[in-house]
Amino acid sequence: MADVDIELTINGAVRRDTVPPRLTLADYLRVNCGLTGTHLGCEHGVCGACTVLLDGEAVRACLVFAVQADGAAITTIEGIAGADGQLSPVQAAFRDHHGLQCGFCTPGFVLSATTLLRDNPDPTDDEIREGLSGNLCRCTGYQGIFAAVRAAADSSAAPSKNGTS
Ligand code: FES
Ligand code: FES
Repeated sequence: MADVDIELTINGAVRRDTVPPRLTLADYLRVNCGLTGTHLGCEHGVCGACTVLLDGEAVRACLVFAVQADGAAITTIEGIAGADGQLSPVQAAFRDHHGLQCGFCTPGFVLSATTLLRDNPDPTDDEIREGLSGNLCRCTGYQGIFAAVRAAADSSAAPSKNGTS
C-alpha cells in the first residue's frame, strides 16, 4: 500500500509526515519523531509501557497505527512536564516516593496516572489500583508506584480537604 500523509499535534507542535499505513504510533513517535520516552515492552497491548494520550485519552501506542492518529493531538511523556521543565505533580510524586526503580515502565504509568487523577481527582486506594492495573512493572515494585499516585492525589486534593483554599 502507498504511504499516507498525516498531520498530528504532538506535545503542542504540529507535525506532518508521510508514513506507511502499517507503521504503529509507537514506532512513529520513537523513530520518526525521536520521542523515545514512549517505551515498547510487549508490542501487543499487554504491558502499557507505550501508553500515550490521544486527544486526551490514554491509549496503547503499539496498538494504534500512525495513520489512525491523523488529525489527533498526542501527548507523550516528553510533553507532561511544564514548558519550563517543572515536573508535573505525578512525575514529582514518582521521584519522591520511589516509584521509578528501573524506569522502563515509568512513562506509561505516569501517563495512566495523569488521566486517572484528571478524571478522578480524589480516588480511593482501590480506584488507584484499578486505574493502574493496565500497566505492568517488571521490577514488581508496585508499592512505590502506588504510593506515588496516592501522594499525587492527596497533594492535589489537599487544599480543599484542609480548607486552605
Ligand atoms: S508495548 Fe504496548 S502495551 Fe506493551
Ligand atoms: S520500574 Fe522497572 S519495569 Fe517498572
